[in-house]
Amino acid sequence: MILKGKHIILGITGSIAAYKAAYLIRTLVKKGAEVQVVITPAGKEFITPVTLSTLSSHPVISDFFSNRDGSWHSHVDLGLWADAMLIAPATASTIGKMANGIADNMLVTTYLSCKAPVFIAPAMDLDMFAHPATQQNLERLRSFGNRIIEPTEGELASHLVGKGRMEEPDKIVKVLEDFFTESNYFKGKKILITAGPTYEKIDPVRFIGNYSSGKMGYALAEACANWGAEVVLISGPVSLTTKHPAIRCIRVESANEMYKETVREFPTTNATLLCAAVADYRPEMEATDKIKREVTKEMTLHLVPNPDIAAALGAAKRPNQIVAGFALETNDELHHASDKLKRKNLDFIVLNSLRDKGAGFQCDTNKISILDKEGELTAYPLKSKQEVAADIATRLADLLNKV
Ligand code: CTP
Repeated sequence: MILKGKHIILGITGSIAAYKAAYLIRTLVKKGAEVQVVITPAGKEFITPVTLSTLSSHPVISDFFSNRDGSWHSHVDLGLWADAMLIAPATASTIGKMANGIADNMLVTTYLSCKAPVFIAPAMDLDMFAHPATQQNLERLRSFGNRIIEPTEGELASHLVGKGRMEEPDKIVKVLEDFFTESNYFKGKKILITAGPTYEKIDPVRFIGNYSSGKMGYALAEACANWGAEVVLISGPVSLTTKHPAIRCIRVESANEMYKETVREFPTTNATLLCAAVADYRPEMEATDKIKREVTKEMTLHLVPNPDIAAALGAAKRPNQIVAGFALETNDELHHASDKLKRKNLDFIVLNSLRDKGAGFQCDTNKISILDKEGELTAYPLKSKQEVAADIATRLADLLNKV
């Protein structure tokens, strides 16, 4: 009964799939949720407010003001009341308005005021769904942290067959149940994550760096925060940002700065995931002025070693703290990963190989194996970095349950 007592705003828009909203409400209410329906004017053409208010035991909201007594429906209060907002069915038009902040109805104003997680179940004709405008709008909504419940393939209202059918109500409810279950996994835990490259300055305009994009570390930070953790993300220079309220991002540039911040946060953490591609060396001297070709002619950079953050934390960790690292290798992968696991006293190491297509720097996908300190190796198929993050977080949750 994970949905018991949960406040759910159900947004209904003008799609033939609106009839499924009746079953959706019934299932949510049966599972103990409180449902407040907000419907667009077009939605009312497909299903009557009387049906919806009877099933949800709440008057249906559609207008900014009540026609009966002129009272104002506060989308702000509604947004604060909700534990989740679900828009099912979501038409291409509503998706477009949500993606672009066009607040011309009660549903979109409520969406813009809503602080709770938002789930969107699109329903439309196959060509409308496939159109770049719809896809770009959905991508934009994903980038806001909204979750898209993908439509399924099948016969559509137009009798054409393709992708655009709203997901079945039982499956939509399962998505919500899974969300509320997962959002408790790391409750009360503080997780420290390092991400991205480090830049080691040569002079005011040049540095030694690497190709790390930070995508894996940021995906991990989001996954852990979505599962209820307080996350501290120590990020090297990357173009990514995160708006998740549970992620505190500390931006650094060099390995030394990353070391300082990580060591400072470490004592109060339950787990640390060292995802950053830390430069092993830095120039011994950083020139104060730009180095000039005419003056220098030939040059040799003298490099000195940087601190090994993983090894320092591995040596300092208490028995109830988990520390995990990454190993991106080009050859003899397992041997190198196993060596790092032992040398840095890690609980597990996530191994990926540049020999695998779709794995490594810059990609949106990754193919990993996890090697733990008992020597057990688990290999995963090629997945999106978000899915890989969920796999790593699952492994971490198992370990945290044991300490
Ligand atoms: N790491 C770290 N600090 C460093 C170097 C590495 O925290 N100065 C961490 C990485 O974030 C990663 C793990 O250690 O989790 C392994 O990093 P890698 O660069 O593969 O290890 P190195 O010991 O530097 O070995 P290599 O010679 O292969 O670079």
